[in-house]
Amino acid sequence: CRIRHYKFNVVQKNHTQLCSTKPIVTVNGLFPGPTIYAREDDTVLIKVVNHVKYNLSIHWHGIRQLRTGWADGPAYITQCPIQPGQSYVYNFTITGQRGTLWWHAHILWLRATVHGAIVILPKLGVPYPFPTPDKEVVVVLGEWWKSDVEAVINEAKKSGLAPNVSDAHTINGFPGPVSNCLSKGGFNLPVEPKKKYMLRIVNAALNEELFFKIAGHKLTVVEVDATYVKPFQTDTILIAPGQTTNAILSTDFQTGKFMMAASPFMDAPIAVDNFTATATVHYADTQSAIATTLATLPPKNATPVATKFADSLRSLNSNTYPAKVPLKIDHSLFFTVSLGINPCSTCVNGSRVVADINNVSFVMPKTALLQAHFFNLKGVFTDDFPANPPIKYNYTGTQPKNLRTMTGTRLYRLAYNSTVQLVLQDTAMISPESHPIHLHGFNFFVVGKGVGNFNHKNDPKKFNLIDPVERNTVGVPTGGWVAIRFRADNPGVWFMHCHLEIHTTWGLKMAFVVDDGKGPDESLLPPPADLPKC
Ligand code: C2O
Repeated sequence: CRIRHYKFNVVQKNHTQLCSTKPIVTVNGLFPGPTIYAREDDTVLIKVVNHVKYNLSIHWHGIRQLRTGWADGPAYITQCPIQPGQSYVYNFTITGQRGTLWWHAHILWLRATVHGAIVILPKLGVPYPFPTPDKEVVVVLGEWWKSDVEAVINEAKKSGLAPNVSDAHTINGFPGPVSNCLSKGGFNLPVEPKKKYMLRIVNAALNEELFFKIAGHKLTVVEVDATYVKPFQTDTILIAPGQTTNAILSTDFQTGKFMMAASPFMDAPIAVDNFTATATVHYADTQSAIATTLATLPPKNATPVATKFADSLRSLNSNTYPAKVPLKIDHSLFFTVSLGINPCSTCVNGSRVVADINNVSFVMPKTALLQAHFFNLKGVFTDDFPANPPIKYNYTGTQPKNLRTMTGTRLYRLAYNSTVQLVLQDTAMISPESHPIHLHGFNFFVVGKGVGNFNHKNDPKKFNLIDPVERNTVGVPTGGWVAIRFRADNPGVWFMHCHLEIHTTWGLKMAFVVDDGKGPDESLLPPPADLPKC
């Protein structure tokens, strides 16, 4: 294993897209940002230098950060932000993981442009559990606003209403051809016939789940969220913000140009950006006059396509990569995820849209929770997060009279190595809606999911405890539920939130605090000397 050094200079840069130019925050001037390459067991040191006017922090999404919560990155959860002119070295070892993950800013809405892929190769000499692809390609999907993204969210916070949707989706930074704007072309993937290309797909969009497709080709999914799955073929990939998917593209044609495309999935009456991002898969030796074969994406409300994709995911569960699903459960939790409405005298309607877990809209602290935990500072958080919703909702039925939520910086405490089953239930408080929930510090197994209200008696009997998919971000179906299990084998404070940025902003977030274990390797390491102060 090696030590890999990276330097991230966070700088402002003018960027032109959709025929308009604006300054954006970037890492090293790049959009999307640079890809980090490492192998399993490597130690990675990334020096982040803040040259912009915003406070900053960067999260290494999906990296377990065993005992190194100080390097996880969510602002005010595991660290105070890196202030303008300051720097911080993120230092972590990649243990037991290989595959595609990604990094992104974890403060304000800066992740709109501050993000990039993390490619973790297997240990030297260890093959993939599928035929080695001829080539690997990173495909980062994103969202683009013509206006300043911080202005978009600040406006929404002021009005109490939903923010404007984006103006385009992007593939590796490009929307593809747009009417009324002769843009600089788009992402083009040149290919040779009869080869295998592994696409490492990342959804870095702020608020949109996406369908992804390549015209005329099937894709074989082999990995999600840096865990191997039983390979399966599909026309269309569903990928939520936060998720990553490795899929093999077999170039079975001799010549031709084929459209690669991404468009939104939304099966609730919620406004989305309807823009379809396009790129091209271009066979060598194709005559330039040949027309591109177009891709037909599912309509945005294609719930069956989304469900079929999610249901196809199974852990590889081989001898080398067994699925270690916890069978005995210490903490059985039931969390509702919903939107609500709280009073706001300065807002447009005298109220603001909020979001919550178990009716608690999370309030960000002024100092980092991990420091408060490690140094035993009182008064920063309480560890009384409710294990069950305090109100009996009819989750998928009509609106209750009272849409108000409680507020608080409440955490749920777990003993080291205890096991957790968590059922996440979507509700119809304002409107049911799919929520991609991300847990920091752990992978979890998705042991069950369904539509409607979770049945505490019958649904657990149908759980898959053999080969459930293991991941770090899972979509709670619109008006449905999902059940996950994980082992709390990582001491520290771990954020859990909806990866739709607007829902996080509105309060759909909480954190687990995992205490140290007794063994020599079971405690949180002390903070690094350059850890930023609040
Ligand atoms: Cu990818 Cu807390 O986020």
